[in-house]
Amino acid sequence: MKFPNDFLFGAASASYQVEGGWNEGGKGVTNWDVFSKIPGKTFENTNGDVAVDHYHRYKEDIKLMAEMGLESYRFSISWARIIPDGVGEVNQEGIEFYNNIINECLKYGIVPFATLYHWDFPQVLEEQGGWLNKKMIDAFAKYAEACFKAFGDRVKHWITFNETINFCRLGYIAGVHPPGITMDPKKYFQASHNVFVAHAKSVKIYKSLRQFGEIGITHVFSPAYSIDDKEENKFAANHCNNYEIFWYYDPILKGEYPEYVVKGLMEKGLTPDWTKEELDLLKEAAPYNDFMGLNYYKPQRVMKNIANEEINPTRENFTGAPGNPSFDGVYKTVKMADKVYTKWGWEISPEGFLGGLRMLKERYGDIKLYITENGLGDVDPIIEDEVMDIPRIKYIEEHLKVVKKAINEGINLKGYYAWSVIDLLSWLNGFKKQYGFIYVDHKDNLNRKKKASFYWYKEVIETRGENL
Ligand code: BG6
Repeated sequence: MKFPNDFLFGAASASYQVEGGWNEGGKGVTNWDVFSKIPGKTFENTNGDVAVDHYHRYKEDIKLMAEMGLESYRFSISWARIIPDGVGEVNQEGIEFYNNIINECLKYGIVPFATLYHWDFPQVLEEQGGWLNKKMIDAFAKYAEACFKAFGDRVKHWITFNETINFCRLGYIAGVHPPGITMDPKKYFQASHNVFVAHAKSVKIYKSLRQFGEIGITHVFSPAYSIDDKEENKFAANHCNNYEIFWYYDPILKGEYPEYVVKGLMEKGLTPDWTKEELDLLKEAAPYNDFMGLNYYKPQRVMKNIANEEINPTRENFTGAPGNPSFDGVYKTVKMADKVYTKWGWEISPEGFLGGLRMLKERYGDIKLYITENGLGDVDPIIEDEVMDIPRIKYIEEHLKVVKKAINEGINLKGYYAWSVIDLLSWLNGFKKQYGFIYVDHKDNLNRKKKASFYWYKEVIETRGENL
């Protein structure tokens, strides 16, 4: 079977991780510009000041994407380039930069898929309380509207937020992302609620502009599986799915929070400060949300937290490997002897992907889905000057097979975006952890080079995945 003609083969990036040009083009300072410069916060104290210099090399990069046959490029817009102080005037130079990106894509027939918020935002807003301050809701909606108005004639696919669970959990529980607050579940739930309201508001604004494109959100998709058939572990996995999936997906797709979590939060005194108007807004916007973007890398193997271990919030403990208890101490994630893991301890499980997709279909029906990220973080071998990223090819191949199978089962999947189009800066793992089809030589002027996976993906796209 070939993938359907309206299925998009894409690849992704995010502003802070590729652009650089951190103080150019009238851009404001972001939360990440500040946070990454606090010693010890990132691996080898790397930061995005230069990243892979996409800000200056976007033409070369998009040309390579076109050569690969990419059908769609998912990139993010940096809020601080568009509205440098978060709420004031729109910066024309910022608009021009993204106009250039979009127009360059369109020149080659590459569909631009834009994310409005992939974690970097104006530091001045962070200093006013960031996502804990309800002012952020209107500030975000205003920024979103500016983007719709500037780019909406050409951008027909919009993602509001990338991975709310990650920037909230890592920002308010683990403290390893800005604003660096540890173990404050009250703030964690408040921040996520404010994000959902900002999403709902932006969806309504987008629809009111009648630009006839689609808008959705991207969430982490790490379905939880019990390590065995013991009731207590099955309970733990279900608890995990409620807190880590349904809490995030329900308000977007059903317009209300999952009862199980709401009850739990009430008992623990963690209910966000929410108003009836906000809850009504979630309900009102839900039917207008066009799709859900899924970032799938790995499932979670979950068991009851028997030894009552507590979270140890260090950067090393929060780069995605199992071994952490949940914020409420109910469950923990574990590494299992019979599973396969990447060099960074992320389980490789195409089956876990398929199981999760089926779970979503059961709960949310035929909602349109895009895989907005999926890929392998690795240290790629260089053999006789060629980047032989064979494990990446294998990883993507196995996951694309699942996508094909899911489509055959009637799951409404409309596109696949590999993470990442080019090697880029990992928030907490520096440049060591590579994901791209295009290699960037940090020892030689950030020169680009096509990897083995580049040629492989090109062939997959050309043949519309027939041989998978
Ligand atoms: C996702 C993010 O969480 O995972 C990306 O949306 C990120 O921005 C990717 O780079 C991989 O994470 P890591 O930690 O391996 O770089």
